[in-house]
Amino acid sequence: MIDINCSPEVDLEKTKEIIRRIAKDKMGGWVELPKKYDIGEFVRMKETAKKIQDESEYLVCIGIGGSYLGHRAVIEALRPKSETKIIYAGNSLSKRELDFALAKVGDHDFSVNVISKSGTTLEPAVAFGEFKKKLIEKYGEKEAYSRIYATTDAKHGALHDEAVACGYTRFVIPDSIGGRYSVLTAVGLLPMAVAGVDVDKILEGAAEAVGEIVGQATKYAWMRYTLGKKNYDTEVFASFEPSTAYFNEWLKQLFGESEGKNKQGILPTSVIYSTDLHSLGQFMQDGRRNLFETIVDYPTDEMNAKVVSAVRAAHLGGGIPVLDIRVSSFDEKGFGELIYFFELACAISANLFEVNPFDQPGVEAYKAKLQELL
Ligand code: PA5
Repeated sequence: MIDINCSPEVDLEKTKEIIRRIAKDKMGGWVELPKKYDIGEFVRMKETAKKIQDESEYLVCIGIGGSYLGHRAVIEALRPKSETKIIYAGNSLSKRELDFALAKVGDHDFSVNVISKSGTTLEPAVAFGEFKKKLIEKYGEKEAYSRIYATTDAKHGALHDEAVACGYTRFVIPDSIGGRYSVLTAVGLLPMAVAGVDVDKILEGAAEAVGEIVGQATKYAWMRYTLGKKNYDTEVFASFEPSTAYFNEWLKQLFGESEGKNKQGILPTSVIYSTDLHSLGQFMQDGRRNLFETIVDYPTDEMNAKVVSAVRAAHLGGGIPVLDIRVSSFDEKGFGELIYFFELACAISANLFEVNPFDQPGVEAYKAKLQELL
């Protein structure tokens, strides 16, 4: 089980009330999900992953924010083995990036997993348009449509409507689960399964955490809140395993979008050590003291563990509060547990700051402005 090394003052009654509120929230569907997974849907998803592996050298995963960061985090961290490689698209409007992804697929056999809960986000829609065109050119319309997998809302949105009209294989993002809390749904599990991640073990790790992890998540959430109220307004997630860079990205999105509202929240940022000891290390040691460091302490080799100890001691000496989240294992179970831990801790923490963890009005604002400009 994950273990965290801090003992903040915790108001237990308030925490219980918050946890009750989260579980009852109309967007709280992720809380019990790992224990109540629809087995039929899970089997269908794994069969689909196998079909994609049999037919394709590449799976193009199109999505942005919560629709891609979680699975990318796990796939890049675990480096699973699969003949089918994952390519990401639709997370920017850069034509250069899109052309690069299209060229990478080249003449290879490929399928597309387009992921968008709203079904209307511009970046993935543009990328999907291009890859759909490429599929049709290569395979003709009928086979092209059989190679498109749409993960979206059950009933609404342009992507849903198109998927129904064209007969794409569909996976549903439940109404009660928002983008950044959706990594343990088909949003994350289908690309992971295609990439060769053992998704049974991911769910097993998460399911074991349900209920059991509350104490650790509560400590972490209260520690963040306590530090935040003392004007530590920046949290630096530190990892000593370079392959977890995308897990850091997922963490930044989870906390940033969940907490940064009503002029509240702690700015999440991240470093990968040792690399960043030689860029941000100076600032961490000696710069402005408005930050705290959260070491996501993955099991690592002996030599690297010495760096962890050295950095922790040096930064504590430099006056930075350092939290340690000790991760149980660097494998599927470990990541399943870790994802669930951070989701719960984040939702508790946002409630302590009295903001809604499940909406993102700021993101909607940019989308509206962009539509106006276009
Ligand atoms: O966490 C969130 O809700 C967001 O980051 C969304 O995932 C992101 O904006 C993409 O939205 P959609 O899946 O509707 O395309």
